[in-house]
Amino acid sequence: MLLISILALFSFVQVHAEPPFACDFEDGTMCEMENSLWFDPQRPIHNFSLISGELVPDKEIAPSKDHTYNTSSGHFAYWHQPFDSPHTNMDGCLSTPIFELTEHMCLTIAYYIKSVRADRNGTVLSIYMKGCGFRPLWSIRTDDTLGWQTDEIPLVGHGCNVTIWFNIMADQKNSVSVALDDISVDICARYKTTTTPQPTPSRSIRFTNNISLLAIVFLVNTNYLITS
Ligand SMILES: *[C@@H]1O[C@H](CO)[C@@H](O)[C@H](O)[C@H]1NC(C)=O
Ligand SMILES: *[C@@H]1O[C@H](CO)[C@@H](O)[C@H](O)[C@H]1NC(C)=O
Ligand SMILES: *[C@@H]1O[C@H](CO)[C@@H](O)[C@H](O)[C@H]1NC(C)=O
Ligand SMILES: *[C@@H]1O[C@H](CO)[C@@H](O)[C@H](O)[C@H]1NC(C)=O
Ligand SMILES: *[C@@H]1O[C@H](CO)[C@@H](O)[C@H](O)[C@H]1NC(C)=O
Repeated sequence: MLLISILALFSFVQVHAEPPFACDFEDGTMCEMENSLWFDPQRPIHNFSLISGELVPDKEIAPSKDHTYNTSSGHFAYWHQPFDSPHTNMDGCLSTPIFELTEHMCLTIAYYIKSVRADRNGTVLSIYMKGCGFRPLWSIRTDDTLGWQTDEIPLVGHGCNVTIWFNIMADQKNSVSVALDDISVDICARYKTTTTPQPTPSRSIRFTNNISLLAIVFLVNTNYLITS
């Protein structure tokens, strides 16, 4: 019992100390993200690749700067569909490595979509999670996001291993660019702050969480020792 409690406490502290997934694409890799899904044999028509604004070939519709640094040398994950390319229900697909989902987690992303023809809302970017069930998390249908946009998406469920993936379906009669940057899974912003403002709100609530967990572990162990 004591061992289990210590292990539980250890994993709690560990998980909260470091985000389960974070990628700003600045270390020259895609952080083990894959252009596919481990449970789906289908492959996307076009791959995401790592690039920067100054090196991107399709300058007309690609981002000229990244989201992390707002510079032409900063990196992002880039997907491009030329006009009249083939089309499936998985024109593009990028999935995260599997990680263990804990409570109060959110996915934050920066996303960018731009098309040559902007009269049809023909591109759909969707985000799904598998593990803790299978669920659609988020979706946008547009031709143009007017630059980088960001969002924070709550991840419901905890205590299971999950993967998150980005799926693109694009109108084949269009040339489309999609870019992703600053993808991370971490404690949701609203759990990082308390409702009543304090000098160091994020620290105080986290400290309280740890104290209450310690108290529970202590009580459970005490109870175990007394009853056994
Ligand atoms: C996408 O990447 C995968 C894995 O690296 C590769 O096998 C596949 O050929 C690529 N597909 C395209 C269309 O480049
Ligand atoms: C990015 O940099 C440009 C100038 O190079 C500036 O006009 C723009 O406001 C910056 N964008 C953000 C989001 O900081
Ligand atoms: C695209 O979607 C936006 C937001 O839903 C809407 O306001 C706009 O009219 C749509 N444009 C076209 C061409 O369908
Ligand atoms: C998640 O995967 C890791 C590594 O395979 C494993 O040790 C862990 O027990 C799994 N967690 C759950 C909740 O299945
Ligand atoms: C619990 O305490 C550890 C070490 O002091 C800290 O790193 C961690 O972020 C805390 N957990 C929470 C949920 O605040």
